[in-house]
Amino acid sequence: MIHKSYTRKISSACNFSIMEYKLITEERFDDVVRHLRDSFFADEPLNKAAGLCCKGLGNRELEQHSYETLEDHLSLMAVDENDEIAGVILNGVLLPGDIKSAQKKLELSDDENFKKIFQLLYSHNQKVNIFERFNVDKAFDVRILSVDGRFRGQGIAKELVRRSEQVARDFEFKLMKADATGIFSQKILKSNGFELLIEQYYNKYTDEFGYPVLNVESPHIKLQLLYKYLD
Ligand code: ACO
Repeated sequence: MIHKSYTRKISSACNFSIMEYKLITEERFDDVVRHLRDSFFADEPLNKAAGLCCKGLGNRELEQHSYETLEDHLSLMAVDENDEIAGVILNGVLLPGDIKSAQKKLELSDDENFKKIFQLLYSHNQKVNIFERFNVDKAFDVRILSVDGRFRGQGIAKELVRRSEQVARDFEFKLMKADATGIFSQKILKSNGFELLIEQYYNKYTDEFGYPVLNVESPHIKLQLLYKYLD
C-alpha cells in the first residue's frame, strides 16, 4: 500500500486562494499534526462536545490515530502558494476485524474524553458489517477532514473528498466510507456521491441514567456512517 513516488500536483483556482492538492508524504506528517491541533482537534463537533483539547494543543491519542492513518499513504493535503497547509483529508485502509481490535485497544486508554468519542464511533461501526454487505475485503476509510479556519468556505473540503475518490480508485478500492460527525461534513460527502448507511442521533446516545453521553452543539445533531461504492 506504500507508493511514496505517487505524488499528484494539480493546481486549482478557488474563489480566494490558489490551492495545490497533493498526497501527504512523510516529511509533512508533523506539519499535518500541527495543522490538526489548530483545526480539527478543537473544532470537530465530537471533540468539541467532549472538550478533548484547546486550540493549538495536542492530544496524544488523536495524534497517534492521525500518524497511524498517515502511514497508509492515502491522505491528501491542500497547500497554498507558500506551501502552508490549508486543509487535509486523512484516509486509511480499513480491514475486517480492525474495529474490534481498536475497541480492545481503546479499553486501555486513560483519556476518558477520547474514549467517549471513539466508543461511540466504534460501536456505531459495529452495527453493520460493511465487508459482507458490499462483498469487499477492504475499505477506503475517510477518517479526518479538516480545513484551517482561515481557508474555510472556499470549497477545499469538497475538493479533498473529490480527489480522494481518485486515490481510492487508483489503489483499487471498491468501497469508501466515512463517519461524518457534523452537518457540514455530511453535506460535503453527500455532494460527492456518498450515501447514508446508518445514523445515530446524539440525544439518543445516552448513559445508564438516560443523559446524552456527548452534548453536541447545534446544528450538529447526528452521526452518519456514509459510503460510496465505486463501480
Ligand atoms: N456553515 C455553513 N455551510 C458550510 C460550513 C459552515 N460552517 N462549512 C461548510 N459548509 C458548506 C458550504 O457552504 C458548502 O456548501 P455548497 O457546496 O452548497 O456551497 C459545503 O459545505 C462545502 O464546503 P467547503 O468550503 O468545501 O468546506 P470547508 O473547506 O470550509 O471545510 C470542514 C468544511 C472540513 C467541515 C471545516 O469546517 C472543518 O475543518 N471543521 C472542523 C473539523 C470537522 O468538523 N471535520 C469534519 C468531521 S467528520 C470527518 O472528519 C470524516
